[in-house]
Amino acid sequence: MKILLDTAEVDYIKRMQRAYPIDGITTNPTLLVKAQRQGLDVLKEILAVIGPEKMLHVQVLSTHAHEMIGEAEYLANTLAGNVYIKIPVIAEGFAAITSLHERGIKVTATAVFTAQQALMAAKAGADFVAPYVNRLDAIAGDGVKLVADIVHIFTTYRLKTEVLAASFKNVGQVHHVCLAGAHAATISKEVFQSLTYHPLTDWSVEQFIADWEKFYGKGVGMRGIIH
Ligand code: G3P
Repeated sequence: MKILLDTAEVDYIKRMQRAYPIDGITTNPTLLVKAQRQGLDVLKEILAVIGPEKMLHVQVLSTHAHEMIGEAEYLANTLAGNVYIKIPVIAEGFAAITSLHERGIKVTATAVFTAQQALMAAKAGADFVAPYVNRLDAIAGDGVKLVADIVHIFTTYRLKTEVLAASFKNVGQVHHVCLAGAHAATISKEVFQSLTYHPLTDWSVEQFIADWEKFYGKGVGMRGIIH
């Protein structure tokens, strides 16, 4: 299971990379705009932080296939790293995915809301498909079921395309796409904060320290005085 961060905040990525074995970064135009700087500069900075091996997913803005292809080629040539070009699965997107796959450019089919969009993107040669879990839940759909259906179809037909579940608003959604067999999940800053937190963990540690200090006094660790 690959875990990516859905963000374009360079300082946050730096901090997270120190603490967690993340597999890469996903961005989109909305996230890049939040940086209030040239998008390409931000992407280059992210690459400098994550290095050449971790994935960076970058979305095109064009909506016509030939322009999407041109934009994708530009991004792939300009950004030196393990770059995946995010192509939305609008009608023109499928032609772009087919062509980019033939040109050897790695593609993530994005803004996926149905299993049939995912299947056709996989057949067109997408490396990843990104179903939007919470955006579907928000309109009374079932985002986790969508992910489970796509995983089932890809497994049944032995398609190499991986499922990169996206758009989460809570840890429960992440947990359930893990159980559904998603190959990867990309997680926002807000959701990641809750991902590894449990109040009983903190409470347990406080208890251990309190018990220890009753005997040894404050500030004494296994190696003697610690502060
Ligand atoms: O990676 C796709 C994602 O950015 C969409 O997420 O949270 O805006 O629905 P969200």
